[in-house]
Amino acid sequence: MQPEPKGAGGGLRLCASADIAERGRAWVWDVLEYGRPVRAFALRFDGQLRAYLNRCVHVAAEMDWQPGEFLDADRRWILCSIHGASYEPASGRCAGGPCGRGRLTPLAVQERGGQVYWYPSCDIQPVQDAHPDAPAPESPP
Ligand code: FES
Repeated sequence: MQPEPKGAGGGLRLCASADIAERGRAWVWDVLEYGRPVRAFALRFDGQLRAYLNRCVHVAAEMDWQPGEFLDADRRWILCSIHGASYEPASGRCAGGPCGRGRLTPLAVQERGGQVYWYPSCDIQPVQDAHPDAPAPESPP
């Protein structure tokens, strides 16, 4: 799903808050990092939304073992399906496996009025903003 433009308050609407359950399936969407397509995901862990690029630190590969499924069987760690690197959901830091001292690339997300918004950065932009005439996103609050 592609994010929708949003006016007041800035950010791009991703989905309804209810679409991302606690330690459940993540919301996955396409972004451009330095103009190159990559996927991102947002999940809820201990009540907080967290979002990262879907790219393992070990090898630049997508990590979900089913679309949108990033957590291990105990729903405790983000687990890369390729070689088993585990990441702390709250920080994206490597917790074990071949990711060393690396960390997932975070994206800024926020819940407001029952909706989830993503705030693009200079490096990570929405796909539809790839056109040079597209408006720049607003800054996070
Ligand atoms: S690609 Fe993720 S652990 Fe190797």
